Amino acid sequence: MSEDLYREIILDYYRHPRNYGSIENPDIKAKDSNPLCGDVIEIQIQLDEDNQVEKVRFNGKGCAISQASASILTEMVQGKSLEELREISKENVLEAIGSPDLGHTRIKCALLSLKILKTGVYSYLGETTEVDESGGVKLP
Ligand code: FES
Repeated sequence: MSEDLYREIILDYYRHPRNYGSIENPDIKAKDSNPLCGDVIEIQIQLDEDNQVEKVRFNGKGCAISQASASILTEMVQGKSLEELREISKENVLEAIGSPDLGHTRIKCALLSLKILKTGVYSYLGETTEVDESGGVKLP
Protein backbone atom coordinates (compact mmCIF):
# COMPACT_ATOMS: atom_id res chain seq x y z
CA MET A 1 0.00 0.00 0.00
CA SER A 2 1.13 3.53 -0.55
CA GLU A 3 2.00 6.15 2.05
CA ASP A 4 -1.06 8.10 0.87
CA LEU A 5 -3.34 5.22 1.66
CA TYR A 6 -1.73 4.85 5.09
CA ARG A 7 -2.34 8.56 5.81
CA GLU A 8 -5.92 8.26 4.61
CA ILE A 9 -6.61 5.25 6.87
CA ILE A 10 -5.00 6.88 9.91
CA LEU A 11 -6.81 10.19 9.48
CA ASP A 12 -10.14 8.54 8.89
CA TYR A 13 -9.94 6.44 12.06
CA TYR A 14 -8.47 9.31 14.07
CA ARG A 15 -11.30 11.65 13.10
CA HIS A 16 -14.02 9.01 13.36
CA PRO A 17 -12.80 6.46 15.92
CA ARG A 18 -14.80 3.26 15.88
CA ASN A 19 -15.46 1.57 19.23
CA TYR A 20 -14.27 4.48 21.36
CA GLY A 21 -15.69 4.43 24.87
CA SER A 22 -15.97 2.02 27.75
CA ILE A 23 -17.90 -1.03 28.94
CA GLU A 24 -19.58 -1.18 32.34
CA ASN A 25 -18.34 -4.56 33.55
CA PRO A 26 -15.71 -5.76 31.09
CA ASP A 27 -14.31 -9.28 31.33
CA ILE A 28 -10.95 -8.10 30.04
CA LYS A 29 -9.49 -4.73 30.83
CA ALA A 30 -5.95 -3.50 30.32
CA LYS A 31 -4.34 -0.11 30.23
CA ASP A 32 -0.78 0.94 29.51
CA SER A 33 1.25 3.84 28.29
CA ASN A 34 3.76 4.43 25.58
CA PRO A 35 6.98 4.91 27.57
CA LEU A 36 8.29 7.38 25.01
CA CYS A 37 5.48 9.93 25.34
CA GLY A 38 3.34 8.88 28.30
CA ASP A 39 0.16 8.56 26.24
CA VAL A 40 -2.25 6.05 27.74
CA ILE A 41 -4.72 3.70 26.08
CA GLU A 42 -7.18 1.33 27.71
CA ILE A 43 -8.90 -1.61 26.02
CA GLN A 44 -12.00 -3.28 27.43
CA ILE A 45 -13.65 -6.45 26.21
CA GLN A 46 -16.89 -8.19 27.02
CA LEU A 47 -16.97 -11.88 26.13
CA ASP A 48 -20.00 -13.91 25.14
CA GLU A 49 -20.86 -17.35 26.53
CA ASP A 50 -18.48 -19.00 24.04
CA ASN A 51 -15.62 -16.76 25.19
CA GLN A 52 -15.65 -14.77 21.98
CA VAL A 53 -15.46 -10.99 21.81
CA GLU A 54 -19.00 -9.68 22.04
CA LYS A 55 -18.15 -6.04 22.61
CA VAL A 56 -14.88 -4.13 22.60
CA ARG A 57 -14.05 -0.52 23.42
CA PHE A 58 -10.92 1.55 23.71
CA ASN A 59 -10.28 4.91 25.31
CA GLY A 60 -7.45 7.19 26.24
CA LYS A 61 -5.41 9.74 24.44
CA GLY A 62 -2.50 9.80 22.09
CA CYS A 63 -1.30 10.69 18.66
CA ALA A 64 -3.22 9.97 15.48
CA ILE A 65 -1.33 6.72 14.83
CA SER A 66 -1.95 5.31 18.31
CA GLN A 67 -5.64 6.22 18.32
CA ALA A 68 -6.27 5.02 14.79
CA SER A 69 -4.42 1.74 15.34
CA ALA A 70 -6.37 1.13 18.54
CA SER A 71 -9.63 1.72 16.73
CA ILE A 72 -8.63 -0.54 13.83
CA LEU A 73 -7.55 -3.22 16.29
CA THR A 74 -10.95 -3.15 17.99
CA GLU A 75 -12.54 -3.87 14.62
CA MET A 76 -10.08 -6.72 14.04
CA VAL A 77 -10.94 -8.43 17.33
CA GLN A 78 -14.72 -8.27 17.10
CA GLY A 79 -16.21 -11.79 17.27
CA LYS A 80 -12.83 -13.49 17.75
CA SER A 81 -12.01 -16.21 20.26
CA LEU A 82 -9.34 -15.76 22.93
CA GLU A 83 -7.09 -18.09 20.98
CA GLU A 84 -7.48 -15.93 17.88
CA LEU A 85 -6.70 -12.81 19.91
CA ARG A 86 -3.46 -14.39 21.08
CA GLU A 87 -2.49 -14.93 17.48
CA ILE A 88 -2.86 -11.38 16.21
CA SER A 89 0.65 -10.32 15.24
CA LYS A 90 2.43 -7.01 14.87
CA GLU A 91 2.43 -7.67 11.14
CA ASN A 92 -1.36 -8.05 11.12
CA VAL A 93 -1.77 -4.64 12.74
CA LEU A 94 0.80 -2.92 10.54
CA GLU A 95 -0.83 -4.40 7.48
CA ALA A 96 -4.24 -3.16 8.60
CA ILE A 97 -2.96 0.41 8.86
CA GLY A 98 -1.48 0.27 5.37
CA SER A 99 1.99 -1.26 5.95
CA PRO A 100 3.70 2.09 6.44
CA ASP A 101 7.43 2.42 6.77
CA LEU A 102 7.47 3.56 10.40
CA GLY A 103 10.54 4.47 12.41
CA HIS A 104 11.35 3.19 15.89
CA THR A 105 9.30 5.88 17.64
CA ARG A 106 6.16 5.73 15.53
CA ILE A 107 6.07 1.96 15.55
CA LYS A 108 5.62 2.07 19.33
CA CYS A 109 2.60 4.33 18.76
CA ALA A 110 1.17 1.94 16.16
CA LEU A 111 1.64 -1.17 18.33
CA LEU A 112 0.70 0.25 21.74
CA SER A 113 -2.87 -1.01 21.57
CA LEU A 114 -1.76 -4.51 20.49
CA LYS A 115 0.57 -4.67 23.47
CA ILE A 116 -2.33 -3.68 25.74
CA LEU A 117 -4.71 -6.17 24.15
CA LYS A 118 -2.21 -9.00 24.62
CA THR A 119 -1.54 -7.98 28.21
CA GLY A 120 -5.28 -8.04 28.92
CA VAL A 121 -5.84 -11.40 27.24
CA TYR A 122 -2.86 -13.05 28.92
CA SER A 123 -3.80 -11.73 32.30
CA TYR A 124 -7.38 -13.00 31.79
CA LEU A 125 -5.94 -16.40 30.91
CA GLY A 126 -3.58 -16.27 33.89
CA GLU A 127 -0.49 -16.16 31.68
CA THR A 128 2.46 -13.86 31.96
CA THR A 129 3.37 -11.39 29.29
CA GLU A 130 6.75 -10.49 27.95
CA VAL A 131 7.01 -7.29 26.02
CA ASP A 132 9.92 -6.92 23.65
CA GLU A 133 11.95 -3.82 22.84
CA SER A 134 9.93 -2.78 19.80
CA GLY A 135 6.74 -2.63 21.84
CA GLY A 136 5.62 -6.02 20.62
CA VAL A 137 4.58 -8.89 22.80
CA LYS A 138 6.32 -12.22 22.87
CA LEU A 139 3.93 -15.10 22.87
CA PRO A 140 4.39 -17.41 25.84
FE1 FES B 1 2.17 9.14 22.17
FE2 FES B 1 2.16 8.28 19.69
S1 FES B 1 3.11 10.08 20.46
S2 FES B 1 1.31 7.31 21.42
